[in-house]
Amino acid sequence: MKADVLLGLQWGDEGKGKAVDVLAPSYNWIARFQGGPNAGHTLWLDGNKIVLHTIPSGIFREDCMNLIGNGVVIHPPSLLQEIKALRQHGLNFVGKLMISAKAHLILPGHRLLDQAYESAKGDHKIGSTLRGIGPAYTDKYARHGLRYGDMAGAQGAALFGAAHEEHLRQIKTLGFELPTDLPNQVQEWIDAVNELLSDFSPSDGSWLLNQALDKGQKILAEGAQGSLLDVEFGAYPFVTSSHTTSASACTGLGIAPNRIGNVYGLFKAYCTRVGSGPFPTELHDQTGETLRRAGQEFGATTGRPRRCGWLDLPALAYAIRLSGVNQLIITKADILSGFEEIKIATRYQGLDNHLSPYPDNSSECIPEYKSFPGWNLAPSQSYSNRQQLPQNLQTYLNYLEDQLNLPIRWISLGPERTQVLECH
Ligand code: IMP
Repeated sequence: MKADVLLGLQWGDEGKGKAVDVLAPSYNWIARFQGGPNAGHTLWLDGNKIVLHTIPSGIFREDCMNLIGNGVVIHPPSLLQEIKALRQHGLNFVGKLMISAKAHLILPGHRLLDQAYESAKGDHKIGSTLRGIGPAYTDKYARHGLRYGDMAGAQGAALFGAAHEEHLRQIKTLGFELPTDLPNQVQEWIDAVNELLSDFSPSDGSWLLNQALDKGQKILAEGAQGSLLDVEFGAYPFVTSSHTTSASACTGLGIAPNRIGNVYGLFKAYCTRVGSGPFPTELHDQTGETLRRAGQEFGATTGRPRRCGWLDLPALAYAIRLSGVNQLIITKADILSGFEEIKIATRYQGLDNHLSPYPDNSSECIPEYKSFPGWNLAPSQSYSNRQQLPQNLQTYLNYLEDQLNLPIRWISLGPERTQVLECH
């Protein structure tokens, strides 16, 4: 058996939470492999909006095991708060949620350092979610990070103390003022780790997943953020601090590349981005504003308004190439309902087509567009197969499949788990 991967092909916020929840009944395990609480995976269940930040999106499905993999960075108070909020919805986690011993922890100092570095950047700031992601991965790769499993050992408290002292030293060097409630934050952090450890023993995630595959069980690796925010392949430095492409599922979970099966690539029918950085198809006009309002494009983690623009074929083809995507999922086609004209950027000026090498600095790219007549969708329940969709939407979907040379397997037409069409 092989593990499938699901990831976003844009700048995040493509609707991964809902897609994983929809696919989860076909899987025994859902495993998050990178990122941390900078993610906000939104699900609508029976009219209730639920946002998951660290917990894998398979948690709402009976009989589905969920793993927070070694590639994820965990902020203990946030994870505990997420667990407690879901318990209030009647969810039982025991035996359903595993946490890798090797997952690195976001310490209180990491969050302060994130703020200190961002404010020092002034006009050049990245637009980080300020969740401590960058500093936590920095410590991981500098080999003085602290892992979930470390906190279960006799040296846990001492390791935390030493790391915290070092963070305080760095923060002072940057001239950043410490918050007066820092001692409370530290105590809350320690209490949260202890509470998590008492309910969730640190696991060997790689061993669990490889055993599951040996037994013929199915695994879906759940990505966070989006391919164009990859630390290596995104528009550096306007990226997150982890690898968001499919290779990261191997290192972030401990699964070998020859055990990866399908790679599902998720994209919105238009583009959005939060934070700074190049966005070639960004709309600065009323159409962009209409997209933002219609799509409720405000950050699930920070509430910030998202920048909006047309679908970008060169960027999509680049993301597909980086991850070996073999099946596509399109979301939010319903948001474009009612638009008279819909555009797709088909290439950047000066380049042959959307399959040309993707420019390292896409801020200088000028997109050329192809125009499509809009569509009007009836409520999603009216459609039980793709052939029933408005002809203009079908033309748009056929064009994308043709240009990307890949099948669209699912079409999401609304936020609820029932509002999705499977194409065969
Ligand atoms: P950080 O990962 O919080 O440091 O943020 C770095 C960049 O990635 C910023 O532009 C963020 O807005 C963006 N980012 C981080 N996580 C997400 C996400 O889950 N969805 C969309 N954008 C994100």
